[in-house]
Amino acid sequence: MTTQDELKQQAATQAAAMVQPNTVLGVGTGSTVAFFIDALGARNREEALNLTAIVTTSNRSKQQLEANGFTVSELAEVDHVDLCVDGADRVDHQLDGIKGGGGALTLEKNVAINAHHNVWIVDESKVVDRLGDFPLPVEVLPVSAAQNFRKFAAAGLQPEFRLREDGTRYVTHYGNLIIDLAVSPLPIPQGLASYLDSTVGVVEHGLFLGMTDEVLIAQANGTIAHWTRR
Ligand code: 5RP
Repeated sequence: MTTQDELKQQAATQAAAMVQPNTVLGVGTGSTVAFFIDALGARNREEALNLTAIVTTSNRSKQQLEANGFTVSELAEVDHVDLCVDGADRVDHQLDGIKGGGGALTLEKNVAINAHHNVWIVDESKVVDRLGDFPLPVEVLPVSAAQNFRKFAAAGLQPEFRLREDGTRYVTHYGNLIIDLAVSPLPIPQGLASYLDSTVGVVEHGLFLGMTDEVLIAQANGTIAHWTRR
């Protein structure tokens, strides 16, 4: 029987084979991406890829990339990203998705929006007919977090502050808080994204709509489904 980690590894290995030499690569965050980084490192040791630059979306991924012999640049240091490979928490059949389970959504969206081509690597448990079934992360400024929380509760979005294991509030790389919206399925994702985009105090949210070009979905039957945006 194929485990979820084996599926993640299969999708990740296929994505590592898609990376072209002499390009600028964006690398996301998460357990599936961790498999991608190791597969990329292995490929680079066999055939030097001479990547022009690599940018990434968390310290975790940065450390793993460096352990694999790559030099990591800041997003500000590159003028574009050729290919960005990232995981996702949920993806629907339109290739829209929810990200940010690992709390790195703001930098993930910044790297993705600057990438010419975005590829997600997932196992089949992430595929849904309607976006939901996973709390939608919203990164908010601490100064407005309480008001944002009340507003989301009044709108029926079922907010919860994300907590660390010790029970204190989770703090992002940028010193902000995360409010997870448990409402499922999401009420019209495009409308919710617009609402969040125009809410003062919201730094970023985990709805990635119309941004992803390809999704590699590792399936328990041993095949990898390859979805592309039409
Ligand atoms: C982190 C993310 C990850 O890509 C997402 O949570 C998927 O993670 P995993 O591959 O561990 O399931 O958005 O902020």
